[in-house]
Amino acid sequence: MTASRPWPVGVEGIVYGGDYNPEQWPREVRLEDVELMREAGVNLVSVAIFAWATLEPREGEYDFAWLDEVMDRLGEAGIKVALATATASPPPWLTRHHPEILPVTEDGTVLGQGGRQSYAVSSPLFREYALRMTRVMAERYGEHPALALWHVDNELGCHVPHDYSDHAAVAFRTWLERRYGTIEALNEAWGTAFWSQRYDTFHEILPPRAAPTYPNPSQQLDFARFSSDELLTHYRALRDVLREVTPQIPTTTNLMLSSATKWMDYFSWADDLDLVANDHYLIAADPRGQIELAMAADLARGVAGGDPWILMEHSTSAVNWQPRNRAKGPGEMLRNSLSHVARGADGIMFFQWRQSKAGAEKFHSAMVPHGGRDTDVWQNTVALGRTLEALAPVHGSRVLSRVAIVVDYPSWWGSELDSHPTQSLRYNEELLRWYTAFWDLGIGVDMVPVDADLSGYELILAPTLYTVRDEDAERLAAAARDGAQVVITFFSGIVDENDHVRLGGYPGAFRDLLEVRTEEFYALQEDEVRHLDDGSPADLWSEKTHLEGAEAVRTWADGPLRGWPAVTRAVTGEGAAWYVATRPSAEALESLVEEIAAAAGVEPSVPGLHRDVEAVRRFAEDGTTYLFVLNHSDRDQVVQVSGQELLSGTDAGGAFTVHAGAAAVIRES
Ligand code: GAL
Repeated sequence: MTASRPWPVGVEGIVYGGDYNPEQWPREVRLEDVELMREAGVNLVSVAIFAWATLEPREGEYDFAWLDEVMDRLGEAGIKVALATATASPPPWLTRHHPEILPVTEDGTVLGQGGRQSYAVSSPLFREYALRMTRVMAERYGEHPALALWHVDNELGCHVPHDYSDHAAVAFRTWLERRYGTIEALNEAWGTAFWSQRYDTFHEILPPRAAPTYPNPSQQLDFARFSSDELLTHYRALRDVLREVTPQIPTTTNLMLSSATKWMDYFSWADDLDLVANDHYLIAADPRGQIELAMAADLARGVAGGDPWILMEHSTSAVNWQPRNRAKGPGEMLRNSLSHVARGADGIMFFQWRQSKAGAEKFHSAMVPHGGRDTDVWQNTVALGRTLEALAPVHGSRVLSRVAIVVDYPSWWGSELDSHPTQSLRYNEELLRWYTAFWDLGIGVDMVPVDADLSGYELILAPTLYTVRDEDAERLAAAARDGAQVVITFFSGIVDENDHVRLGGYPGAFRDLLEVRTEEFYALQEDEVRHLDDGSPADLWSEKTHLEGAEAVRTWADGPLRGWPAVTRAVTGEGAAWYVATRPSAEALESLVEEIAAAAGVEPSVPGLHRDVEAVRRFAEDGTTYLFVLNHSDRDQVVQVSGQELLSGTDAGGAFTVHAGAAAVIRES
């Protein structure tokens, strides 16, 4: 169970720190920063992310004096640096001299200078400048003793996941030529016999820019693939420079794995990241936002292939970019942080170290708030540092799950395309609904890609796996035959990779496994609710499904499909395949998951807890287990444990109380 991915050089135990933007502050504040970082137990900071314009104020003229000093002081204080390539936002001189590097939206709007990330990732000229800056950084600081990790760009694709510029058009054509070889193959794949869309040469192809009506869906799907690949290609190019100059220093970039980030296929990025780093922000309006947080953390672990990863950014309290920004309540920041640790994060970092005085993020919380040291936020910052020190032994241990949820970005893109049976289907909402059912039952899950090794799982859920390759569908079928309970939900297996319908009845790729055949979808209107035969409501989706070997587990009790199956089950080999052909209510989903989990023999990590108490175990190589108990509820929770509680250092035996809002980590004996 030793971690197979490298770790920031010279950082012991759990990583603790945040984005540090010293260029925003005078020298005396920077001096105080280092003192405060030591007080808080910070051991890693991300520096120079948005410093390009400060480091290179005019083309080719550099000012490194301030950064040299910052690096030296941090190094002397024993604080390591995740140094950025400084390329996340091009300086004004660059966009002024070369406005052709600016990104363009679908409707032709050029996104100008003045915010950040104002570059077209496909622009060869922008790439040249970014590569040059990266090399300059690597050559200047590559040997610096404080350097522990490279931080490439920042949240690639955050503001501009899709660029529709002429540069993008050129790069898209090259990408398509590599994928299809000939224009005939592309015409076939895109189904261009439809609506007079046949292309004679690759030169005629454009990104799916604003058009009179629905652009070709296969083209849209390929453009999503291309755009994710294009950002990754940029990452790779910068990383290769860093590897060439400093092969001893690992490289990463901060991903945005959450239920909100749709456009980067991070599973396909995983192999290129030396270590996985994620940014996550709690959704303030969600009273149970800890569930979405947990799902994002499980997803980060999935992308890391189970290895330890770093939470590169979250917030100590409120953010500034949601409609209403809520300050975190007592214990909430600690619980948020420990939920990430419980789910495999061996590093907890924040945006940002010191709250800005000016600029668009001045009302975003930080580790050092505007109010200074005499604040809850600062007390919490210091306390978290102590907590993470106490959790050092957890580093390298792993989370083991018997349930897998398949997450597939192309299915996310494809299932939400226009001109479909319903425009109300949201792939991420479906994921979160199912995830929530497992959470409420206290059952831990892994979030895995469609081509994952499924052999260790007893229960495998594939929600809305809209586009699927034959071999991936076959792997799910094999898992069922080998003994797993496999659950497929509506609008799965519908199309091949090119978004061509699999003929002969839905859900095409899974028809044989599920032993059903759907002849027609019956999408439901907004607010249209139908009932199943157990009395529970279901909405959004229904379909006319014939049983072709499977048994009906639930049938429709009303509406035009009264008496037809809504949930089915087919025994296959040692296991079974379930089809959920509608969207059951939250309660109905939970009881269905309970039924399927019972069939799979899967139980909660700690039985009998209140539903807002999160309990997760990490398993160390030497057999030690660490039980994280995070009480998000407003009442005390008693847990039966035996071992040592690491946050308080006390022996915990028998009935141990985790108070309302509190957290405990027990090294179990
Ligand atoms: C992230 C970004 C940070 C900061 C943060 C605010 O998207 O990487 O630079 O803007 O959001 O929440």
